[in-house]
Amino acid sequence: MRHLLSAADLSREQAVHLLDVAEQMAATQQREIKKLPALRGRTVVNLFFEDSTRTRTSFEAAAKRLSADVITFSAKGSSVSKGESLKDTAMTLEAIGADAVVVRHSASGAPHRLATSGWIRAGVLNAGDGTHEHPTQALLDAFTLRRALRGGAGAGTGTDLAGARVVVVGDVLHSRVARSNVLLLHTLGARVTLVAPPTLLPVGVGAWPCEVATDLDAALAGSGGARPDAVMALRVQLERMDAAYFPSAREYSRRYGVDGRRLALLPDHAVLLHPGPMNRGLEISADAADGVRSRIVEQVANGVATRMAALYLMLAGEDAA
Ligand code: NCD
Repeated sequence: MRHLLSAADLSREQAVHLLDVAEQMAATQQREIKKLPALRGRTVVNLFFEDSTRTRTSFEAAAKRLSADVITFSAKGSSVSKGESLKDTAMTLEAIGADAVVVRHSASGAPHRLATSGWIRAGVLNAGDGTHEHPTQALLDAFTLRRALRGGAGAGTGTDLAGARVVVVGDVLHSRVARSNVLLLHTLGARVTLVAPPTLLPVGVGAWPCEVATDLDAALAGSGGARPDAVMALRVQLERMDAAYFPSAREYSRRYGVDGRRLALLPDHAVLLHPGPMNRGLEISADAADGVRSRIVEQVANGVATRMAALYLMLAGEDAA
């Protein structure tokens, strides 16, 4: 794996293999000494042009647990705030000797540009670009779902998510998590239904490999087949909204909020995911977020193991095993 820019870059075999390596990484994280020597002497640069808590610290922890040297660069406090271009920033990273660059950028396509421009030799990992993609989030979600639906740590090794039904509900329009999840879950054989108000569905969503609906209760009740095995709530991305996309917060949660009453419609084994950060009381209620079906804290823990697997496969390949 030279770069990881889109969830669509992965075949079913590659995705299952990455999830299996993530299981091995997760097992090492149960040990007293969590650090592995795999990436000793390699340099990973975290290039964050947009705010982040989970993804940035998760990549940082992942690279450090693999013994890489980690340089974390955030646009605030760097020369980017003086107007330096992506190209000049990239050339600086090249001069420093980066082996992998983890990029988060508000512009869709920025990681692709870095990977294909010839400015740098490093492998590029997309950590979220604009409203486009967030492939490692989709991988950690798939890892979490595989564990939840196949019987816990290690139990699903070698398997995909064939037959699983997943409802993804919320602000699909602004969500890079939704696109990456639809692509990866489809690759892994799951059936996805996206649910959102019509104003929060992107143009062209009809061509995505999933079903699209506007009625959450109908989707949870299993309209068109079985009830879902998992529900993923998406954050309402107020910072990307330049207009009113729904009448009021109250109206939004009444129709699209995931709460205890709605979760009670699901089969007993079904789980709840949210990529974070959450707007409690808007797209998700506190009782749902903190309830027994919630895997939200596990998602964060699983993010470290999954990113360890991605960095490892990118920088060490198979040989170092
Ligand atoms: C997501 C993101 O930044 O795309 N969060 C994350 O990476 N954990 C989703 C969001 O911001 O709502």
